Amino acid sequence: MHAEKPVTAIPRHVAIIMDGNGRWAKARHLPRVAGHRKGMEAVRVVVRAAGELGIDYLTLFGFSSENWKRPEAEVSDLMGLLRLYLRREARELHAQGVRLRVIGDRSRLAPDIQDQLMGVEAMTRDNTGLTLVIALSYGGRAEIICAAQQVAEDVKRGVLAPEDITEETFSAHLFTGDIPDPDLLIRTSGEKRISNFLLWQMAYTEFVFIDTFWPDFDRAALLSALGEYGQRERRYGAIVA
Ligand code: FPP
Repeated sequence: MHAEKPVTAIPRHVAIIMDGNGRWAKARHLPRVAGHRKGMEAVRVVVRAAGELGIDYLTLFGFSSENWKRPEAEVSDLMGLLRLYLRREARELHAQGVRLRVIGDRSRLAPDIQDQLMGVEAMTRDNTGLTLVIALSYGGRAEIICAAQQVAEDVKRGVLAPEDITEETFSAHLFTGDIPDPDLLIRTSGEKRISNFLLWQMAYTEFVFIDTFWPDFDRAALLSALGEYGQRERRYGAIVA
């Protein structure tokens, strides 16, 4: 076994694809919802650890636009857990100084969840600790199309000239307009894909893929991924002497 790499650099923005809840449950002969429930506990642990470690932004892929295609019962279980998380954790997040932000097509979520999200976002808006970004009903391509439509509207209304469309003006129209790009993406459960997550934003992100199923992800697993990140040399396409 190789030694853990020490944490030498804390990334400003960590994004996580929380994968493997179903397989975690299956390995224990439990229903899939048990994996999601344990996954929700892992979210609590990792949010706290990220704040304590001084990470500024943590973006979690909570529910993708493709996840709507899962059986109705599982979608309903996931939405139930989201309600529970928001109800149980709102005060705790606020007490920890966390600022909540949600990205994705929230119009597809149930009205009571939309209200809950708006409530927690409003309550935590002025907090200065970790910004917790939860991607819900989120798809990267759809986000890019949405930004393109807004830019096209600006051009049509004459407030933007086509030649003034730059990477910066375009980025500003994404859900993440005021959030820096992720420095590190972690995906759990051994899968090595980005699955339509933050496609534009991850142009220069470092990827760390780990075999652990999401429900078993904890502070030590986060530290291990940060150690791996610290070993990477980020060149952004340039040559570094
Ligand atoms: C992937 O596991 C995980 C999800 C689809 C959703 C993540 C949800 C949670 C961690 C629960 C609570 C969420 C929040 C935001 C409070 P999978 O079902 O794809 O696992 P599998 O690939 O092993 O089947």
